[in-house]
Amino acid sequence: MIRVGIIGATGYAGEELMKILMRHPYVRITYLAAKIDKEQPIDEIFPYLKNRLNLKCEILDTKKAVSKADLFFLALPHTVSISVVPLLLSHKKKVIDLSADYRFKNTSVYEKWYKVAHKDKANLKKAVYGLPELYREKIKKTDFVANPGCYPTAAILGITPSLVSGIVNKDSIIVDAKSGVTGAGRKASLDFFYSEINEGVKAYKIGSHQHMPEINQELSSLADKKVDVMFCPHLIPMNRGILETIYMKLDKKINYAKALDIYKKFYKTEPFVRIVEGETYSTKSVLETNFCDIGLKLNEDKGLLIVISAIDNLLKGASGQAVQNMNIMCGFPEESGLL
Ligand SMILES: NC(=O)c1ccc[n+]([C@@H]2O[C@H](COP(=O)([O-])OP(=O)(O)OC[C@H]3O[C@@H](n4cnc5c(N)ncnc54)[C@H](OP(=O)(O)O)[C@@H]3O)[C@@H](O)[C@H]2O)c1
Repeated sequence: MIRVGIIGATGYAGEELMKILMRHPYVRITYLAAKIDKEQPIDEIFPYLKNRLNLKCEILDTKKAVSKADLFFLALPHTVSISVVPLLLSHKKKVIDLSADYRFKNTSVYEKWYKVAHKDKANLKKAVYGLPELYREKIKKTDFVANPGCYPTAAILGITPSLVSGIVNKDSIIVDAKSGVTGAGRKASLDFFYSEINEGVKAYKIGSHQHMPEINQELSSLADKKVDVMFCPHLIPMNRGILETIYMKLDKKINYAKALDIYKKFYKTEPFVRIVEGETYSTKSVLETNFCDIGLKLNEDKGLLIVISAIDNLLKGASGQAVQNMNIMCGFPEESGLL
């Protein structure tokens, strides 16, 4: 049994971490913290936790935190994680950071897209990008995981089999993405008021979203050449879920059966990727689960492969994937707490 701490416990990702970790067979939650003004029982913040999680959410003090858990999840905004990670790692703690602070290999990319200086280049070198389907062996050996972004998880899982098998043109990739509102976090802001979101669909940051360079970094590394996708996000009036429709020009003449075979073989042993056939591609199919569902459509006349990738942004896109990473890092069965 290991002791785990959740920093950022009052946010959406932190809340999901608590829900998963409370039922996890190999861990015990021993520390909760956030920015809050005063220490508060967690069941006052989330009343459904009454008689289920008897812990106080503390005001974050990293020096105090180190003695209270063996592994920490950081569900913090970017730039805040950087102020916490160095001390935790120096005390030999395992850390899974859900922010973008340690996802970029090149700090100039982070600095350009997140518009802040990167202040912890030393630990950046240690961070493993936590996408288990691609980096499981590295995750097994590390104490420090940079958990991927939600949109990048769906995009990278949807694109990789086509890209590495060489069936699509790497310069032709367009990702049309839709996300529910929890993707923006729990903090209040006018853009996310009910009256602003409900009864509408909004395109935003077309070609300028900060998740685009993350997708490009990982795909370029996998393809061993520069990949530069066009990423077009949309906000949908639903609480949670991401659905991405990915358009790729075929470089090789293949049929649907062959494309399906490539995806099925690529994810054959993966516990959380399902290749779906038919016409049902929906966020509802992955809601409250750690699955990524991938469907394919092939238009031979147009020479076009269309991949549909669906996840729950708070689970496979954030906290579920973070727990999957913990399971791998700690040698627990990978599905623990997640099925
Ligand atoms: N939401 C998603 O779908 C999703 C998906 C993938 C990755 N992520 C990433 O996961 C991280 C958390 O996202 P979220 O959606 O859970 O955000 P959120 O709902 O806004 O929660 C942020 C949490 O961080 C705490 N916090 C903020 N500033 C702090 C500080 N200076 N010191 C201590 N605690 C502080 C907040 O505490 P208070 O409540 O006290 O302010 C809150 O608990 C972000 O980096 C986000 O990009 C989110």
